[in-house]
Amino acid sequence: MTILPNNAVWLKQTSERVNHAIDNSLKGLNVQAGDLKEAMYYAATGGGKRIRPLLVYATASLVGKPLDQIPGIDQCAVAVELFHTYSLVHDDMPCMDDDDLRRGRATVHKVYDESTALLVGDALQTMAFGLIADSDLSADQKVKILSLLAKAGGLEGMAGGQAIDLASVGKPLERASLETMHRMKTGALLRSAIQMGGIAADLSNQELAKLDQFGSTLGLLFQVVDDILDASSDSQTLGKTAGKDAAANKPTFVSLMGLASARSLSEALYEEAIACLSIWGENAQLLKSIADKVLHRDS
Ligand code: IPE
Ligand code: IPE
Ligand code: MG
Ligand code: MG
Ligand code: MG
Repeated sequence: MTILPNNAVWLKQTSERVNHAIDNSLKGLNVQAGDLKEAMYYAATGGGKRIRPLLVYATASLVGKPLDQIPGIDQCAVAVELFHTYSLVHDDMPCMDDDDLRRGRATVHKVYDESTALLVGDALQTMAFGLIADSDLSADQKVKILSLLAKAGGLEGMAGGQAIDLASVGKPLERASLETMHRMKTGALLRSAIQMGGIAADLSNQELAKLDQFGSTLGLLFQVVDDILDASSDSQTLGKTAGKDAAANKPTFVSLMGLASARSLSEALYEEAIACLSIWGENAQLLKSIADKVLHRDS
């Protein structure tokens, strides 16, 4: 599908909404501790596609109410983006992928230093949990969402996937293991963003289960496309160093099956993801637009 004009407007306005909310959350921090607050601000503002917050908002919109009538929705959107930003700051550090460029700018450890980058990640991660805990969500919603975020970011999710990624340098992984790694390091947080939006909007368990199938497939698709872009784009367009996976000898879907097959797989995953949305008919247009953006993005 192509992104309809109305959906394009929604995507733009909603990215601005989360950018504004991120800005406010960080500016609301009143403590000065060396360069830490400034470095957190640098990491979290000034770029990024904001796909995870867009997923939070689009999922919550399935309930058919304006976002302003869904308590806690902005805190969910900001929390998942800050959590994601923390994962990027750490991913770029010399002990991880050792990258100098992120979102078209120098990485946090280059502008500041490694210890500051480490602390930026620590502080953004705990801030994400704090935002949910202090939000206007109900106590029940808070516990569910905090649990989701903790699992998505931990051993069974992002951190575990990153550990497999680093342990797999120079070792060709079989398809199943590569898929598991991608679902953990990238898919888990995307999937949790969708569930967070659904819980905040009080969607039914049946709807949440269907959305989880969508999220699971979209999460894998997201990292397959990331692998494709790393191998086929340039650093200027990507805003991060192109060709890094091959240079670092990382197993990816491109190293496993070649560019053309990885592209075919991404199209098949997109179709599989979209099929999960059929129960909502036209009401799932926004989620479809985001899936479209995930497949066709150039950065
Ligand atoms: C990049 O994520 C890291 C992965 C999980 C693949 P994004 O492509 O969403 O990065 P930003 O937030 O837009 O910079
Ligand atoms: C990163 O995967 C996944 C994260 C949890 C941050 P990559 O290492 O491929 O992400 P990029 O390409 O640096 O954004
Ligand atoms: Mg990495
Ligand atoms: Mg990386
Ligand atoms: Mg990558």
